[in-house]
Amino acid sequence: MIETVTLNVRLDQSAFDEPGRPGRRGQLARTRGSGDPLTDRTPDKRVAVIRNRPQAARPLLAASCALLGLAAASGYALAQPGAGESIYLRGVLPSGALLEGKRQAAGLTARGADVACVSCHQRSGLGTYEGYNLDVTIPPIAGAYLFHSREATTKEAVLPYVAWMHSNRDPYTDATLARAIREGLDSQGRPLGALMPRFALSDADMDSLIEYLRQLGSHPAPGVSERELQFATVITPDADPARRKAMLDVMEHYFADKNQFPIGNSPALRTSGKTQQAKSMFMSHRLWRLHVWDLTGPAATWGAQLDADMNREPVFALVSGLGGSNWAPVHQFCERRQLPCLFPNVDAPVDDSRDFYPLYFSKGVLLEADLIARQIAAGTQAASAAPASTVLQVYRLGDGGEAAALALAAALKPLGITVRNQPLAAALGGKGVGQAVRQAQKSDALVLWLRPADLADLGEAAGAPASVYVSGLMGGLEHAPLPTGWRGRARMTYPYELPEKRELRVRYALAWFSIRHIPVVDEPLQVNTYLACGLLAETLSHMSDNLVQPYMVEMLQTSAERRLINTGYYPHLVLALNQHFASKGGYIVQFARPEGAQLVADSDWIVP
Ligand code: HEC
Repeated sequence: MIETVTLNVRLDQSAFDEPGRPGRRGQLARTRGSGDPLTDRTPDKRVAVIRNRPQAARPLLAASCALLGLAAASGYALAQPGAGESIYLRGVLPSGALLEGKRQAAGLTARGADVACVSCHQRSGLGTYEGYNLDVTIPPIAGAYLFHSREATTKEAVLPYVAWMHSNRDPYTDATLARAIREGLDSQGRPLGALMPRFALSDADMDSLIEYLRQLGSHPAPGVSERELQFATVITPDADPARRKAMLDVMEHYFADKNQFPIGNSPALRTSGKTQQAKSMFMSHRLWRLHVWDLTGPAATWGAQLDADMNREPVFALVSGLGGSNWAPVHQFCERRQLPCLFPNVDAPVDDSRDFYPLYFSKGVLLEADLIARQIAAGTQAASAAPASTVLQVYRLGDGGEAAALALAAALKPLGITVRNQPLAAALGGKGVGQAVRQAQKSDALVLWLRPADLADLGEAAGAPASVYVSGLMGGLEHAPLPTGWRGRARMTYPYELPEKRELRVRYALAWFSIRHIPVVDEPLQVNTYLACGLLAETLSHMSDNLVQPYMVEMLQTSAERRLINTGYYPHLVLALNQHFASKGGYIVQFARPEGAQLVADSDWIVP
């Protein structure tokens, strides 16, 4: 049930539109997802599917209702949510009834999550925009923006600049704000745009909502001072020490570079000084501080360790990071403490559409499972090839491949394909690998979720099936130490741009490493770490001085795709509001020769 629901439907005009005439946003979303409703199963693209099909609003709505009890019980919000928060985030009134919004002109009504304020004004309350020329704007409604005085000489705290804010009006009072929400008139009685629904709320519900808006954005974010911004990077104990050092080398140099710029306020946006925004159009340069949080011991204790770290050295966000077989406790910590968690280097991220704060470069091995499922499914449909009707998967218990194997089995089940698993004991080492793969029948598709040490120990390939899939991420990509006999038949998932095509994308990073004498120990890891730092810098500059944590996630989601060339190992990075995985596809490749690292693509870039 949970998997079929996206809680925050953003800006879904189709909820209001007549069937057959999707809104602008629907068209935009279509360019972002793969557009194929049948294969669009991931939460990230489910949003696109919903937007693409106006009639989908209803099933979604029904699903949302069914989910509400579950969502509350699963700790979706920090504590028992207040009434105002429930209206704002979920579109549910304290009575349990759904919030109802009316689109004035057409007299159309939508309910619940579809019209929750968050779906347009965002979790930060800072609104959003669409189009490079701000074609559509949703203004901020966090308290400061609604109630801030117009005077340029006010003693109130400076209002950080947001290009799409409404500033040409008097501050709201509780009464005019209630009128705006009920009747769609601004603080001076002028009608608000038709995109803003009208809500017939009772006085008590209105009071709770206004109370929520008043405090929204008013709490100082952790890790931010006048002069400094604190960040942390998390490393799990099973991460390889050489890779840890390689990643930190990049981050420490990046932070040092960043801090070489002059400190102190500088006019980032120049104004005449006479406009109403004069006081908000500035940006401080703060020193960036990096804390390295090394986890120890069993995964069950990581959450408490991270809480202790955070309490000792509060940070604004987690940046990059390095995981081994299990990243879930770190993911859950970020969501619980409402901490942006930006692009860690992990093979097996958590894929939960209810979560807001963690962002990843890709779904890692879960994406590979989708790619392999697609290939196997295509094989069963092709009349020519002898289709694989059974699949044998080999993985180590507790490693990332276990989650991938589960995902692949779930994807193949509806197709009537039998999946058998040969799990190996958790302890690394070659023992048992050769025996496990010999369980495969000739007609099976054999799927190997194995690390390099295990691949090297596969042994003779003579009796192996013709159809063998290897996880590139786990196996070491083009450097995977497959024994010769296996190289010819193995097809490998490759969720990166192909080596010859990515040269331009990584050139800048590699030059940057070389100038700073950073040894390249693990190129994908280091290039992607550099990319994560770059995205952080870019996003902070877009945020002006609005150092609000949910806003950082929203800004990344709306601006990551501006990066055209420096996209590291990925051909493109695309996020939209509510999406958490920036690169959505991959190739299937084969080795070109019995020796060496040269690959040939067996497919185009596939978005499963
Ligand atoms: C479907 C999208 C959408 C939803 C849902 C929505 N709004 Fe709006 N809202 C808008 C747009 C667009 C505007 C700006 C209209 C304009 O420019 O005239 C706006 C304007 C406002 C304003 C006026 C801001 C100002 O600075 O004058 C307030 C207040 C407001 N919304 C509150 C809410 C609240 C509270 C909710 C939830 C109960 C909500 N909105 C739900 C789209 C939405």
